[in-house]
Amino acid sequence: MYSSKITGLGYYVPENVVTNNDLTTFMETSDEWIQERTGIKERRWIDPKTDDTTATMGAKAAKIAIERAGLTKNDIDFIVFATLSPDMYFPGGGVQIQDLLEMPTIGALDVRNQCSGFIYALSVADQFIKTGMYKNILVIGSENHSGALDKSTRGRNVSVIFGDGAGAAILSRCAEEGKGILSSHLHSEGKHAKELVLEGPATQRWVPEIIENNDDSDLSYYPYMNGQFVFKHAVSRFSEAIIEALQANNLQKEDIDMLIPHQANLRIAQYIQKKFNLSDKQVFNNIMKYGNTTAASVIIALTEAWEQGKIKDNDLVILAAFGSGFTWGSVILRW
Ligand code: UT7
Repeated sequence: MYSSKITGLGYYVPENVVTNNDLTTFMETSDEWIQERTGIKERRWIDPKTDDTTATMGAKAAKIAIERAGLTKNDIDFIVFATLSPDMYFPGGGVQIQDLLEMPTIGALDVRNQCSGFIYALSVADQFIKTGMYKNILVIGSENHSGALDKSTRGRNVSVIFGDGAGAAILSRCAEEGKGILSSHLHSEGKHAKELVLEGPATQRWVPEIIENNDDSDLSYYPYMNGQFVFKHAVSRFSEAIIEALQANNLQKEDIDMLIPHQANLRIAQYIQKKFNLSDKQVFNNIMKYGNTTAASVIIALTEAWEQGKIKDNDLVILAAFGSGFTWGSVILRW
């Protein structure tokens, strides 16, 4: 069996900065409420006048990651693309990346696991490398939330949290023993699917039905979140995923050099930090600048942490996420 290692990282966020105060111009909210409950100061929302979409942002992040890996687009054997906000109902974003980057006719797989999307995507890529089937895989997480949020006061508990952006990693076959991905751990609990959900348009809630109803109180085409319920599950599932990753590799919490939690809410990350007795140096957060970018959040944070020199050779790094589904999981790596 081979092992896999991240050899290139990149991210892209739209230029348009939306501060908490900007939000107060179209909904009843406040900078104080948002910062106190979530830690978010600002987020990026796509300016519709630009060419930014889920796919184009993913392609921009991918180009950076491929270059940093010292590869060209022709060296990539496979694409795994994670998003909950694709440009189209079908096909998924993976094939758009193949086209935008003018890549050969390699396979492109889409992953639909919301906030855990990047963890799932990385884990899938790891399996393909382990078996020897592929050598270099492009793994992308990209989200355009701003196109589908209820930006009125009615949707404020959801819309203030989410931001747009993309991140990409190149996962490559690794020759060094004990380096790269040590293990990945994936979970789901579908009975809570409707606690964090966007129901329509979909086959059970199709566009003509929504239009025919013409009912302003029909919110099924906006994301719904039972915030406190999700929060409670998030803190316990995050912890479980981290413990599982450590135990699987006979490691202790003291061995963690860097924890990159999905950027759901700064309060969740701080709770986890305290629970595992980690210092500020051992946990990386950037939700303050970007909000929650769902499948892009872990990979944007990992890239920024690496760019800032916070991840060094041989460091033990844990990526962990929890979100809609519910789905959650972790990936543990020796850098
Ligand atoms: O990434 C996927 C996983 N997602 C998460 O992990 C998110 C987990 N949940 C959360 O982060 C928090 O539940 C939120 C930040 C979403 C909300 O915080 P909360 O402390 O759970 O607030 P709440 O929804 O219970 O609302 C408290 C009050 C309500 O007012 P009343 O009923 O007490 O008068 C809301 O109407 O805050 C009000 N409120 C707001 N006020 C100002 C809700 N959203 C806002 C807002 N601005 N944006």
